[in-house]
Amino acid sequence: MDKILITGGTGYIGSHTAVELINAGYEVEILDNLANSKASVIDRIFEITGVRPVFHQVDLLDSSAVLKVFKEGSFSSVIHFAGLKAVAESVEKPLLYYENNVGGTLNLLKAMYETGVSRIVFSSSATVYGDIPIGGHGFTEDMPTGRGITNPYGRTKYMIEEILKDICISDPTFSATILRYFNPIGAHPSGLIGEDPNGIPNNLMPLVMRVARKEMPELSVFGNDYETPDGTCIRDYIHIVDLAKGHLAALSHAEPGVAIYNLGTGRGTSVLEMVAAFEKASGESLPYRTMPRRAGDLPIVFADVSKAFSELGFKATLSVDDAMRDTLKFLRNQ
Ligand code: UD1
Repeated sequence: MDKILITGGTGYIGSHTAVELINAGYEVEILDNLANSKASVIDRIFEITGVRPVFHQVDLLDSSAVLKVFKEGSFSSVIHFAGLKAVAESVEKPLLYYENNVGGTLNLLKAMYETGVSRIVFSSSATVYGDIPIGGHGFTEDMPTGRGITNPYGRTKYMIEEILKDICISDPTFSATILRYFNPIGAHPSGLIGEDPNGIPNNLMPLVMRVARKEMPELSVFGNDYETPDGTCIRDYIHIVDLAKGHLAALSHAEPGVAIYNLGTGRGTSVLEMVAAFEKASGESLPYRTMPRRAGDLPIVFADVSKAFSELGFKATLSVDDAMRDTLKFLRNQ
């Protein structure tokens, strides 16, 4: 059976992907520096799947440790999640982000090259589309990328995509699948793994959960004067288990060259609709206050998901309500 190395495999998306891969019969090893996750996630993966993946606590910036993992591993593919992802922090500490995300990826690619591993699935983001206005249509994978990205975090995703394209040009046997995520939310239905960021979160769902846990008095809703039906921004929220399954679909379609897929639902939900969905799932009201717009926010972001469906057979099946239910289960387990 194919052995897959998951970098960032104790993180939010990585851990759910590890579970889906193990359940599908893949052998999985995890590499993570635990910068934004906990080693106990390995125990949770074992509880869910009955399999304990080999865990390497290694930083991608430590090139000799990374190479050692590859020399001992005989991996058929790598799924690369490891990276820093706090947008505001990336504006304050650009060097940290470029070194960690781009430098770490270069070390990973060099170790793959040295040990003959020629297949990578990369965790990218819809942020690479920058500020293209989409009107009533979703982003499609052939739209231009890189322009109007507002922060170093987003630019690291764009740069890594470009590096992977160059590698595929230089080496016709190399296969890179780039997955552009929209907004992952939710948790595993067991409630054993979910989104548990260290420090102060900046994405909507972790903040909703902070308010639900009464660790914050209210949610700030950034802007209610956008040109959307209720005035708040619209995003494409995809359940984390659906997103994880998107990686399984991507793995089973390994052809040389670059392939790029959006992973989203193709549907938009506003911030106020998210608040209402939380209230419905929890039976509790969620205090919020309308605040000025957040710099860099686009009014409407959602995916055109037709390419992932036609080429990978992938379609998200879970709803925002499912995600709220599963997040609450994870929250109550904490
Ligand atoms: C953000 C980043 C994006 C990154 C993604 C994943 C910005 C401008 N964009 O996307 O680059 O790829 O996270 O990490 O930072 N909201 C509130 N109140 C809050 C938090 C969020 O109203 O306290 C709203 C936002 O205005 C937005 C929606 O909720 O409309 C989702 O926000 P968020 O979870 O931060 O995701 P994105 O903005 O889509």
